[in-house]
Amino acid sequence: MTEPTAASANPEPAWLLARQPVALQDQARRLLRWARQNGAAAVWLEGAALIAVWPEGEAGRQAVAALADRAGQPAQVARITGQDPRAAWQAPPLDRIHPRLALTPAWSGLSAGPGVLVIDPLTAFGAGDHPSTRLNLLLLARLLDQDPPPAGAWVADVGAGTGVLALAMSLLAGLKVLAVDPDPAAARATARNQALNPLAGGRVAFVRATHAVLAAQFPLIAANLPGPLLLMVAPRLRECLAPGGRLVVSGFRAEYAPKVERACTALGLGLQDQADQAGWVGLTCRVGRVPPAGRTRVGRVPPAGRVRVG
Ligand SMILES: C[S@@+](CC[C@H](N)C(=O)[O-])C[C@H]1O[C@@H](n2cnc3c(N)ncnc32)[C@H](O)[C@@H]1O
Repeated sequence: MTEPTAASANPEPAWLLARQPVALQDQARRLLRWARQNGAAAVWLEGAALIAVWPEGEAGRQAVAALADRAGQPAQVARITGQDPRAAWQAPPLDRIHPRLALTPAWSGLSAGPGVLVIDPLTAFGAGDHPSTRLNLLLLARLLDQDPPPAGAWVADVGAGTGVLALAMSLLAGLKVLAVDPDPAAARATARNQALNPLAGGRVAFVRATHAVLAAQFPLIAANLPGPLLLMVAPRLRECLAPGGRLVVSGFRAEYAPKVERACTALGLGLQDQADQAGWVGLTCRVGRVPPAGRTRVGRVPPAGRVRVG
């Protein structure tokens, strides 16, 4: 069992920051007032954008979505950490998931590199800031650190969205990744992020389709899908795992995790690793039984969400 790190025992506060473009002064003032009345910890105007910061969590997530609805256009969202959100905003947002992996939103101006993915969600799911994405990334990074499939092997990302999990697998271990998602928004976002991350993007092949398209047997499948959908597709994913293959799943909250664990056990998958953040859970399962000594429990996702660079 892995103990939570000293840093995770005493995490810095985490915030969701929305950079909301606004068209008119009047609208900016109205939105500023609305954000203040709806729990924003800090809100200010910067050029043609309203910057509003909420404590990380479901309420903050809903407030960010409601702000974009009221503004009539999407906001750019980032996760930042620090005692003072205004001070944290001064540094380019670099969300560190693992010692070898950090994410930054496309608008940060930072470049992709060996340990950094640049993510633009366009209209697909999140910029990598959602706990379900961060948990999957953390579990993937740990697995690829300890026992990666051979470089150049094909693995799969089911429900690619922005392509962030696929890009991470490619970046961290030189894997080729088949990324599938039926949503045209995912096709657009994955293509954009492949271009923003040339190092990793070249090894990702996107197919606009559901999980049903998978035919090969993969040594590793990542799937961040809502719990009920995950239960539905799990038998198919199991069929697509090679002997000893690993399945990294997320997308469900803690109360749903026992159902997912039971489904995995029934499919002959042993629990190898798990992590949680803000009431969300991620699991790594492997084909076959995993002896208790072979299990790790990560605890929380490292909180060092934002570091100063350059
Ligand atoms: C929660 S998002 C995850 C996006 C991304 N992987 C991440 O971690 O941020 C789930 C994605 O699954 C896609 N999806 C829904 N049903 C699917 C299915 N049957 N097979 C594959 N993808 C599916 C959705 O279109 C959506 O983009």
